Amino acid sequence: MAGFFGKLLGRRTATNSVDLLAADLDVLPLASIVVTRDGEILSSNAAYGALVSGLAGGLERVDAIGREDDRPMLLSALSVEDASTVEISTAGAPSRVFRFLIGPENAGRRMVCVDDITTFRILEGQVVQSQKMQAIGQLAGGVAHDFNNLLTAMIGYCDLLLQRHRPGDASFADMMQIKQNANRAASLVRQLLAFSRKQQLKPVVLDITDALIELSHLLRRLIGQQVTLDLEHGRDLGMVRVDLGQFEQVVVNLAINARDAMPRGGHLTIRTSNDAVTHPRIIAHETMPAGEYVKIEVRDTGTGIPTDVIGRIFEPFFTTKPIGAGTGLGLSTVYGIVRQTGGFIAVHSQMGRGASFTIWLPRHRGDIQDEGPREVEAASPTEAAQDASILLVEDEDPVRAFAARALRGKGYRVMEARHAEAALQLLEGGEVPDLMITDVVMPGMDGPTLIHQVRQNLPSLPVICVSGHADDDLRTRLDQLGGAIAFLPKPFSLKQLSSRVHEMLKNG
Ligand SMILES: Nc1ncnc2c1ncn2[C@@H]1O[C@H](COP(=O)(O)OP(=O)(O)OP(=O)(O)O)[C@@H](O)[C@H]1O
Ligand SMILES: [Mg+2]
Repeated sequence: MAGFFGKLLGRRTATNSVDLLAADLDVLPLASIVVTRDGEILSSNAAYGALVSGLAGGLERVDAIGREDDRPMLLSALSVEDASTVEISTAGAPSRVFRFLIGPENAGRRMVCVDDITTFRILEGQVVQSQKMQAIGQLAGGVAHDFNNLLTAMIGYCDLLLQRHRPGDASFADMMQIKQNANRAASLVRQLLAFSRKQQLKPVVLDITDALIELSHLLRRLIGQQVTLDLEHGRDLGMVRVDLGQFEQVVVNLAINARDAMPRGGHLTIRTSNDAVTHPRIIAHETMPAGEYVKIEVRDTGTGIPTDVIGRIFEPFFTTKPIGAGTGLGLSTVYGIVRQTGGFIAVHSQMGRGASFTIWLPRHRGDIQDEGPREVEAASPTEAAQDASILLVEDEDPVRAFAARALRGKGYRVMEARHAEAALQLLEGGEVPDLMITDVVMPGMDGPTLIHQVRQNLPSLPVICVSGHADDDLRTRLDQLGGAIAFLPKPFSLKQLSSRVHEMLKNG
């Protein structure tokens, strides 16, 4: 630091008797001042004048421009002899962040250069925030993946028990309780997957106006009579390509939050419009590329969101509601769905003046047709003994054990393999299955690679892929493999497993 200041002042700091007041601050490229130990400004350059213009007292005392709690920090840095750097936020709104480079003390005076680093700090905050969201997403996705395996086994064994204990049996009601609770756990896991953007979407080309009109009856019931709902539909609104159920979930979650923020009633407005974005825009901490979007604003007249809370509302499990009232997954689900759909979401709020959430979804141009993957009918196979052999590849023991038992119970012959390599060995041994069921994520070779290898010798072998999540990447890989491949999401029930197997054997 001394070297830096020394250079600026023509290397005169070699002696202790430099007269800082004689320095020509206007030759300096930075906003600069000379101050006393207690913060009084003795001289300043034009750049400094420009920097603090509009900030009261900025030309008299160096600490006058700072926020009350930041001022002591600056003054104490001036009172120690050594050079130092201090960052303070300015008083008033919008607040800016100034960095003070304080030169070493010289005869009771010091030279200070000041830099406005507001933009830098905002960008830095955005990077930190987006890394945080990404890390939480990865964590949530990982937890959800493990939970899906556990739940598949729990729900599956429960189904097996239920086959032996029919309604009327003393244990039936208890088992139904277990199954219902496992299903509730599965729906929590789905929300986590939504946040980590790893859930399966069935996008269709959708008219948001129709979807909102359709949804408005439910919304009115949800928000109660104290809150009025206004729909303001944009004219000639573009189409979007989203999963309808997920889109409804987004609007419902936002509406419920709005209702909770308006305990004494108020207005909930949902407004749609087209938004042609000509330059990339920073939305929250992400960059929205230029393009055509459909904008959906959900605005309420509730309590508003405090500034210390607003930065965290999209995090999973963040809630300000009492224990039992909120899980804190509402907005993280919204965020995940919007981002997985290629959209963006921003929030604006002022305390006491309500909150407004804005969503941009990419406008869809092109064919209007249902592109969603085929849904399997839940028809359960009736035939008791099925003469077919199935190769089952799954690394999770409880999942494999349940699936094998369930399939054997249906009369299939089942070969079990705990990883892809073991499956290949079985096939090399001369086994020829009629169907292969394989997990996607396994240690060693993964599902898609296994399918590719197996298809070299058995090109028409039908395959069912089971997985806790299906990101776009996996879909593309499966599509590239071609042939008869069905997808079965975890957790699955006995019925879902057997009907998918039945269907593949029939068609495949
Ligand atoms: N419209 C709003 N007005 C005021 N505060 C809001 C609004 N929407 C969300 N919040 C704040 O954000 C927090 C997180 O919302 P989120 O929907 O993720 O969880 P939750 O509503 O608390 O619980 P859950 O939705 O899982 O039942 C809320 O607890 C609340 O403090
Ligand atoms: Mg909520």
